[in-house]
Amino acid sequence: MNSMTLEQIYARIWDCLAAAVREDDQPFKVMQAATIGLDGSPNVRTVLLRGASETENRLTFHTDLRSPKIAELSREPRIALVGVDPARNLQLRVFGETRILRHGQARLDAWRSSPDHDLIAYRTHLPPGTPMAHAGDALDETRDAPNPDEGLKHFCVVEVRPARLDWLDLSAADGPQRALYVRRNDDWAPAWIAP
Ligand SMILES: Cc1cc2nc3c(=O)[nH]c(=O)nc-3n(C[C@H](O)[C@H](O)[C@H](O)COP(=O)(O)O)c2cc1C
Repeated sequence: MNSMTLEQIYARIWDCLAAAVREDDQPFKVMQAATIGLDGSPNVRTVLLRGASETENRLTFHTDLRSPKIAELSREPRIALVGVDPARNLQLRVFGETRILRHGQARLDAWRSSPDHDLIAYRTHLPPGTPMAHAGDALDETRDAPNPDEGLKHFCVVEVRPARLDWLDLSAADGPQRALYVRRNDDWAPAWIAP
C-alpha cells in the first residue's frame, strides 16, 4: 500500500505548487487552463504558475488583458487547471473561481518582479490572436529599449481560488490512488475517490 494519508497528500500538493512557483523546471510550473469560450465551447491554453498560497487558498498566473481568455473569464469566472508530472505519474486538477487584477499594488509588484523577457509579449501593439502578414509584425515597434513600464497597461494577474483539488497518483506499484479535496466554509473536506 502507498502509505500517504489524505493529509500528507494535501501537503504534498501545496509543496509541489510552491516548488513550481520557485523553480522553472518543476512539473506543475506549466499548467493547462480551461475556460468556457464566448460561444459556449471549451477553450484551453498553457499558463505558467506564478503564485501559490495555501493559507490564502490562491494560485496566480499572468496574462494579457487583451487576450481572449480575459473576455471569457470576465463572462464566466470559473476555471479548471491541470498539471502533470509525467516522470512521477502524477496529475493535479484544480477547479476554482478567478478574479482578474487589472489595477493595484499586487499587479504592479508582479510586473516589476518579472524578468524583462517575460514582459515582451505585453509590449506588442497587436492584441494576442490578431492576424498578421508576417511572423514578427506584432513585435516590430517593441524591440528598442522600451521604458520599463511599456506594456504594463496590457498586463494583469489572474487569481484562482481553488474550490476542488483532484490529485491522481499512478506511480504506486500496487495501483493508482486518487484524492479529492472540496472547499467548504474556508476548510477542505478530503476524500478518497475511485481512480
Ligand atoms: C510554455 C508556455 C507558457 C505559457 N505561459 C503563458 C502565461 O503564463 N500566460 C499567458 O497568458 N499565456 C501563456 N502562454 C501562451 C498561451 O498558452 C496562449 O497561447 C495565449 O495566452 C493566448 O491564449 P488565449 O487566446 O486563450 O487568451 C504560454 C505558452 C507556452 C507554450
